[in-house]
Amino acid sequence: MKKIEIIIRPERLNEVKQALDDLGIHGMNVLSVTGRGAQRGVVHQGRGGESVTVDMLPKIKVEVVVADLAVERVIDAVVAAARTGNIGDGKIFVIPVDEAVRVRTGERGDVAI
Ligand SMILES: Nc1ncnc2c1ncn2[C@@H]1O[C@H](COP(=O)(O)OP(=O)(O)OP(=O)(O)O)[C@@H](O)[C@H]1O
Ligand SMILES: [Mg+2]
Repeated sequence: MKKIEIIIRPERLNEVKQALDDLGIHGMNVLSVTGRGAQRGVVHQGRGGESVTVDMLPKIKVEVVVADLAVERVIDAVVAAARTGNIGDGKIFVIPVDEAVRVRTGERGDVAI
């Protein structure tokens, strides 16, 4: 199993959720985060002509734990759903997961996710 952390523009959340649903992936966490990437935020022009740097921008982080076999499908679907082509489109991280347990039944592994 892998945990996929998907950091996206907030306005793309519905598209990404729909893309995951279409793959039969329903369980997820959605978190509001602030973050920055390679450009270290954005620089706005202030009223007096001064530069105002906002270095932490609002993003959404979606976390899903999926079977190893699903990882490439998830990446492809999320990229298609979240991409605008502009800087700040987000990032995807894939992290190994040792175990999953469904609390109600005690099931473990792939069947528990
Ligand atoms: N190396 C990183 N580690 C953890 N989170 C990151 C990392 N890079 C980006 N993020 C998160 O992803 C968000 C979006 O990053 P962003 O898409 O701007 O990445 P980028 O590398 O700057 O790519 P681009 O050049 O397309 O903007 C950031 O606001 C931050 O929340
Ligand atoms: Mg960036």
